[in-house]
Amino acid sequence: MTDSNLLDKMPTEEESLKGSKKKQKEEEAWKPQGPRDPFAMLDSLPEAKQQEIQRALHLFSLGPSLPKTLQQAKSHTYRFWDTQPVPRLGDSFVTHGPIVEGEASFREEPYSLPPGFSWDSLDLSSPTVLRELCTLLNENYMEEDDNTIRCEFSLEYLQWALQPPNWLPQWNCGVRVHTNNKLVGFIAALPAEVRVYETDKRMAQVKLLCVHKKLRLKRMTPVLIRELTRRVNQQGLHQAVYTAGIVLPTPLSSCRYWHRPLNPRKLTEVSYPGLRQNMNVQRALKFYRLPEVTKTPGLRPLTNEDVVGLHSLLQANLRKFHLSSRLSLQEVEHWLLPRENVIDTYVVEGDAGTLTDVVSFYGVSSRVLNHPVHTGLRAAHLLYVAGTTADPVDLMEDALVLAKSKGFDVFSALDVMDNKSFLDNLKFSVMDKSLHYYLYNWMCPNMSPDEVGLMFPN
Ligand SMILES: CC(C)(COP(=O)(O)OP(=O)(O)OC[C@H]1O[C@@H](n2cnc3c(N)ncnc32)[C@H](O)[C@@H]1OP(=O)(O)O)[C@@H](O)C(=O)NCCC(=O)NCCS
Repeated sequence: MTDSNLLDKMPTEEESLKGSKKKQKEEEAWKPQGPRDPFAMLDSLPEAKQQEIQRALHLFSLGPSLPKTLQQAKSHTYRFWDTQPVPRLGDSFVTHGPIVEGEASFREEPYSLPPGFSWDSLDLSSPTVLRELCTLLNENYMEEDDNTIRCEFSLEYLQWALQPPNWLPQWNCGVRVHTNNKLVGFIAALPAEVRVYETDKRMAQVKLLCVHKKLRLKRMTPVLIRELTRRVNQQGLHQAVYTAGIVLPTPLSSCRYWHRPLNPRKLTEVSYPGLRQNMNVQRALKFYRLPEVTKTPGLRPLTNEDVVGLHSLLQANLRKFHLSSRLSLQEVEHWLLPRENVIDTYVVEGDAGTLTDVVSFYGVSSRVLNHPVHTGLRAAHLLYVAGTTADPVDLMEDALVLAKSKGFDVFSALDVMDNKSFLDNLKFSVMDKSLHYYLYNWMCPNMSPDEVGLMFPN
């Protein structure tokens, strides 16, 4: 079977609206607005006042919201996603394959943007461009709906997250404003070899979609996704994998975030979402106390010399799952070799010199907004834990001990892979926050979280 040119086959939102007044209205909506622009008015207020308004909107649910549950999704009209080759909500498949069959051609010219905006492929090997992206994300990539905690990406983190082997500048798709060259929209994809059930497919892993908050709800997202799809098609690829916290048509798997306090005092003080309500600080300190030192004999940081051994260990482990990455040696090196304040990996070497166990976590920092004492929060996110000899609960507890010693405040994990085997034991709490996995132009049966073996840091 040949893959298809998705964009030429599907009636696009742009085409279906062509010539209509609606389209004109939407395009005009992108134009910078005059003095009565509500965003400008909001911007002119002190930040504390802005926070207050945002919190109030959140509280009364007047803010725009996309479906967070399947129930809500059933009553949402997906104007964009219903035009895309993705399973419809409620579809279930027993067969495996592309949703639309392929043709070799693809749209040559970029999708048009409203006047005043232009595309830019971000060459992130340039420190200036990397810094611009960092600014866009740090000012607009909010973590919590009420805008009290905001992601704070470092340059080192973005280099790691967006520049693995074979990354392509044209897949770092940016939108700029003509007049001042300001970056206001972004979406990225990385080429990856993904195994879905028995099929190995080269596809795009899509991440870090972000639209400047002044341009929200103006349908920039569909244009970013279409343009990225075109650029992915240009490379001969027709499938993508992506994750989102909202329900879109249609999750391949719906996973939950779990978290485990490492610094309960600080988390209580910043009202970190999902903390156990019934615990005062003293009880929390006692309840979440961790050993001072690690338990697993021989646990040590991963070095360059371990990469081949780790590659074999991970490949053997990841094969167990229905969705996983087929990592090359270079990718193992990129994603797992320790980088200060970005990624930590610890391994155990067996008697014969082969690696028997691994645990790795990456760090994401957040800015705490308008708190009298605390300004930042550091979360460690579990990447992989796999092993053949160490007790998995001990190994994960060691990861908690190490993360705490490195100054992380909280440890997060998804209930993917075999993670459920330790989450309860190690006092992780389930959060009111899901992460849904999606495939573009691929049908296959849904899978439960423990069948998911693919992790890709945002
Ligand atoms: C996510 C974000 C780009 C959406 O922008 P927006 O201005 O609210 O939405 P737009 O008007 O541009 O587009 C709306 C369309 O995009 C879709 N959409 C919104 N968020 C999406 C996501 N994360 N992934 C895919 N599609 C998404 C909507 O479902 C809608 O399509 P529909 O009519 O088929 O339902 C914006 O809220 C943002 O930058 N948020 C902060 C960063 C973030 O959370 N990124 C997502 C990480 S998964």
